[in-house]
Amino acid sequence: MRRVLHIISRLFGAERAHSLSVLLLRIADKIPTCKWFLRKFYAVEDKALEREVFGLRFPNPIGMAAGYDRNGEIFRPLSALGFGFVEIGTVTPRPQQGNPKPRVFALPEDCAILNRIGLASKGLEAVLENVRKEHKGIILGCNIGKNTVTPPEEAAMDYLRVFRNLYQYIDYFAVNVSYNTTHKQYVPRTRESIMKILEPLFDFRRGQNQYRPILLKISPDLTNEEIDLMTDIMVDTPLDGIIATNATTHPQGLKTSQEVLRKAGSGAVSGSPLTERSIEVVRRVYERCNGTYPIIGVGGLMTGEDVKRMMEAGATLVQTYTGFVYNGLGFAGDLCKSLITPEAADAENSSETEKE
Ligand SMILES: Cc1cc2nc3c(=O)[nH]c(=O)nc-3n(C[C@H](O)[C@H](O)[C@H](O)COP(=O)(O)O)c2cc1C
Repeated sequence: MRRVLHIISRLFGAERAHSLSVLLLRIADKIPTCKWFLRKFYAVEDKALEREVFGLRFPNPIGMAAGYDRNGEIFRPLSALGFGFVEIGTVTPRPQQGNPKPRVFALPEDCAILNRIGLASKGLEAVLENVRKEHKGIILGCNIGKNTVTPPEEAAMDYLRVFRNLYQYIDYFAVNVSYNTTHKQYVPRTRESIMKILEPLFDFRRGQNQYRPILLKISPDLTNEEIDLMTDIMVDTPLDGIIATNATTHPQGLKTSQEVLRKAGSGAVSGSPLTERSIEVVRRVYERCNGTYPIIGVGGLMTGEDVKRMMEAGATLVQTYTGFVYNGLGFAGDLCKSLITPEAADAENSSETEKE
């Protein structure tokens, strides 16, 4: 699979390879039998995988991370491939192009991706069209952000606009306050700047009949003090959880040559170089909140062993992006299989017997 990816991304460029996969999955979305076959071949269903988290019943704890289905076009086929939930976005209120291409680069020697997409989004209206359509049985998260041109003092309005308009169609929201590869200067890191974004969302939610969990997606490049600050915000306010982490702008120990990195240019790195750091961040959040809040662990989960370590560090659910790109269509199913340990299956069987 890695060789195939290497060849495809060399021939077409990593972003065109991604666009091609999105196109194929969009075609699959239109053909019910196709989704049926994907589910039959790739998805793994087992009671032992189910999780109840923030009031939602997840068929399994493996999710697709934000950025893969940016506009809510392919969450049905992704679900058919065995993902227990899909986080669409980042969605911005108005459409925006992001940075000039090329802006996504495969780093196969490191099992990594370097990107500086800069929140390319078709905008709220386009996403609304997609998520309005029936999607019963699929847990859909939405990652929300601000338009690049919106000045920081008006950022809260952008987040609220996307949140309010998508509220009834989405199961949980992820407020993206992690690194934005377009404009580095806007990364809210203080309590005041984060609360300015969150307060209007909490206020809007208070007036609704249905409850939608709100999570904060954080960067792996925060200092320990900043991670503690985000955790304390979660503990002190109606925030429901944390998603840790986004990609890193300070990857450690890359094997990719300096020449390749220089040609690619700046950006955020995801995949294997991120594994240890994202696990470390999750562990820090978990310990600070005494394990009382759900954490979605994401970053460099390339094997079942990585997922187990992430869960041992305190993640309730996990997500993957780069691991899926490198390991192929069956990745979610493979991770699920790795979680069905004999002990988990035994526990499930005994609770079934008790019910009878
Ligand atoms: C090409 C690309 C685009 C991404 N776009 C977004 C995005 O729009 N919003 C976001 O919150 N995270 C985005 N991410 C970050 C992923 O959701 C994830 O947090 C990160 O890649 C670490 O997970 P991974 O190592 O499994 O890829 C993107 C990642 C990649 C590789």
